Amino acid sequence: MNARPDFGAGAHERWQRAQAVIGQGVAAIDTPALVIDLDAMERNLARMADFARAQGIRLRPHAKMHKSAELARLQMARGAVGVCVQKTDEALALAHAGVSDIYISNEVIAPAKLARLAQAVRALPTRFSIAVDSALGIARLVEALLQVGVTHPAAIDVFVEVDVGHGRCGVVPAQALALVQQVMAQPSLRFAGLQAYHGSAQHRRGVAERDAALAESETAVRATLAILNAANITVPLVTGAGTGSFVREANSGLWGELQAGSYLFMDADYASNEADPGAPTFEHALFIKAQVMSVSATHAVCDAGHKSHAIDSGLPRVWLPDGLIYANGGDEHGVLREVDQAVELPALGETVWLVPGHCDPTVNLHDFAIGLRGGLDAGHVERLITIDARGALG
Ligand SMILES: Cc1ncc(COP(=O)(O)O)c(C=O)c1O
Repeated sequence: MNARPDFGAGAHERWQRAQAVIGQGVAAIDTPALVIDLDAMERNLARMADFARAQGIRLRPHAKMHKSAELARLQMARGAVGVCVQKTDEALALAHAGVSDIYISNEVIAPAKLARLAQAVRALPTRFSIAVDSALGIARLVEALLQVGVTHPAAIDVFVEVDVGHGRCGVVPAQALALVQQVMAQPSLRFAGLQAYHGSAQHRRGVAERDAALAESETAVRATLAILNAANITVPLVTGAGTGSFVREANSGLWGELQAGSYLFMDADYASNEADPGAPTFEHALFIKAQVMSVSATHAVCDAGHKSHAIDSGLPRVWLPDGLIYANGGDEHGVLREVDQAVELPALGETVWLVPGHCDPTVNLHDFAIGLRGGLDAGHVERLITIDARGALG
């Protein structure tokens, strides 16, 4: 076996350097850096928790967005029943860091992954749940639990996923019954309900477009419930929804649990949606702090390119200074131009604050985020927040 390569030396040095700026003003943050405006994040946290409480609906935020055990615990302390993740290794990273209730809202089919999960079910105090959409997936889950000696009743909660319009995972309503019956026939599994998530609906800009997509989801959920009810099966819970649609699911009377994740940081993509009536207002809380490193007659260049932030949902928005547009300058550069002639280009060395287009893959590019208290202008570094499940893709 090869000796373990030293992944850690450079990362450790960067961590220590970042630690050294705790307590210092915002100017001390080296660039490019992933920065969380803690005040804005806490307001988002409270607004979503208040919304769920007022609606009488469970909140299980998606932790694939922040991948941080600390933030998952914070969400649970504010009333979330647990968190979702998308990958087995994300679940393990958060469970080992003490998160007590984790739902893998995704299908897992590889025996090796299911074996890791089964070990965790056996060894850790965390309550796990998982989504399934195939007979093979259910059979392999049962076998993995058996292999590690997990035979006690309802050792893991299982949600059967229905494709409610997203066109990704999940079965059509007519196929759900057989899977639910297969789950119910296995003592080690507890049938916990239906996974019903329409991902692409989240990013349709207008309320009417999103409503039309979600109406289809409701039809699929109703059809599935009717089939299961006709077979005398009670569905304990329908879970799903994201930041672009949760008001609709909450109002439907069908969903009992919301999985929104991005509301906590609010990226540029979600901020482009027309807000749903009755939706809480979420603020941008995740930023890339960058610095102007070159200036010419026509443009300035900052030191954050797409190794600092994901660009799958569009380029970052320049938050500060006002009046600038970000153009792709490659891996390590961003090109800044004025929106009109009244605006001046920033000077060499000036700080630039960017709002990433898509928060989830942006966070996954960083080992830690810098938690800022007191605002982008005059705040100070309060703490570092580790991205515990960074790179946990298995
Ligand atoms: C299964 C599932 N649930 C919920 C979400 C909602 O996340 P967000 O609010 O970040 O869009 C996602 C996002 O991709 C998802 O895949």
